[in-house]
Amino acid sequence: MSESANPTFRVEGPTRLQGTVKISGAKNSALKLMAVTLLAPGKSTIHNVPDIADVHIMGELLTSLGCAVTFDGATVTVDVPEAPSVRAEYALVRKLRASINVLGPLVTRMGRAEVAMPGGDAIGSRGLDFHIAGLRDLGAAAHAEHGYVIAEAPDGLIGAAIELKFPSVGATENLMTAAVLAKGQTVIDNAAREPDIVDLGNFLIAMGAKIEGLGSHTISIEGVASLSPAAHTTLPDRIVAGTWAFAAAMTRGEITIEGGVAEHLEIPLDKLVAAGAVVTTVHNGFKVRMDRRPTAVDVSTLPYPGFPTDLQPMVICLNAIADGHALVTENVFEGRFMFVSELQRLGADIKVDGHHASITGLEVLSGAEVVATDIRAGAGLVLAGLVSDGVTLVEEGHHIDRGYPNFAENLCALGARVTRL
Ligand code: UD1
Repeated sequence: MSESANPTFRVEGPTRLQGTVKISGAKNSALKLMAVTLLAPGKSTIHNVPDIADVHIMGELLTSLGCAVTFDGATVTVDVPEAPSVRAEYALVRKLRASINVLGPLVTRMGRAEVAMPGGDAIGSRGLDFHIAGLRDLGAAAHAEHGYVIAEAPDGLIGAAIELKFPSVGATENLMTAAVLAKGQTVIDNAAREPDIVDLGNFLIAMGAKIEGLGSHTISIEGVASLSPAAHTTLPDRIVAGTWAFAAAMTRGEITIEGGVAEHLEIPLDKLVAAGAVVTTVHNGFKVRMDRRPTAVDVSTLPYPGFPTDLQPMVICLNAIADGHALVTENVFEGRFMFVSELQRLGADIKVDGHHASITGLEVLSGAEVVATDIRAGAGLVLAGLVSDGVTLVEEGHHIDRGYPNFAENLCALGARVTRL
């Protein structure tokens, strides 16, 4: 990331997007794959890693734990020492929520972990109670102290039955990675089913773990004594692919999303079809075309395979310019409507009541200065800028850089007038 660390995205609208965009590896997979290399001493290699700031922060975190991390294009090699440090400091953890994914690997392999609590962010509070309760089920003494989660299991973890109160992605990942080196069998019920979980599980299996039920509500893990380093290719980013799909529909354009996996986006693509888009499968991806003003669509976010909360800003933006009235309900993160007040600066007609947003579509929005509050809100605001009259300035663009490699360049290649200031 050589460009400005905190750019403003300048968007000149309205625009119609047309062309092909290539999807890179998934942020939310790559970060976790990197974290779990800690489970085995030696060199593990992760391919198809996106060139985004978060990946480099995870690299710094692993370096701070004693690993040697090398980047070569889209490939990251992590050389893990026999005895990595077990303390992940707040200075790095605060920059990256996924840092919490070092908790499971460290406690199960080293018998102790001290990981700073990442804290909340602009999408609402993000608890760690399921992570802590699950580690306790596995026999660890785990508690929060002075802003750190401290987990101890000097004699190793012991397999257990764990029932998650909510299919949390992060808790499923941490507990699955902790259980792979526990003694005996662990069963995680009400597990998250996201493709990221399947990807992570497949990497763990390549390292020698015994896991069944990936992608279902119940994941069974038979602990093994040790794991070996392995190589893995990150799956394509379904949220980035979904963002381009919404961009095509909003701008009445046509985008071929190369490397996008339509099966990972079944419900969002169904919603786009309901809004009037034509979605077709093409060789190595899919294509979204929209020939008319979108029709308003109601959406409720839910854990996978439901409509992803990470695409909620995009569907709100689509509805802001759609024909009709829509209700968008957020069921995963309580504070995820914070960006709505920014969208209102572009003239959008939206009323928020608790976890419901009620949207009446307008023909066109009007360009203004807005602030990106998180990764997905930032991308959504850029899309809104594409369908606004005049210039939209999206400030705090570092959020966008955290999730979308070469966002401005990709937009320009599709015909948008976007610059990074
Ligand atoms: C991950 C993704 C994020 C995505 C989210 C849901 C990463 C880095 N981030 O976040 O982009 O939006 O999944 O698909 O992969 N919860 C608790 N206690 C816990 C854990 C979670 O109450 O111990 C709550 C959270 O506050 C939230 C809900 O459960 O309301 C879902 O969170 P979770 O699935 O854990 O999201 P993350 O893994 O943080």
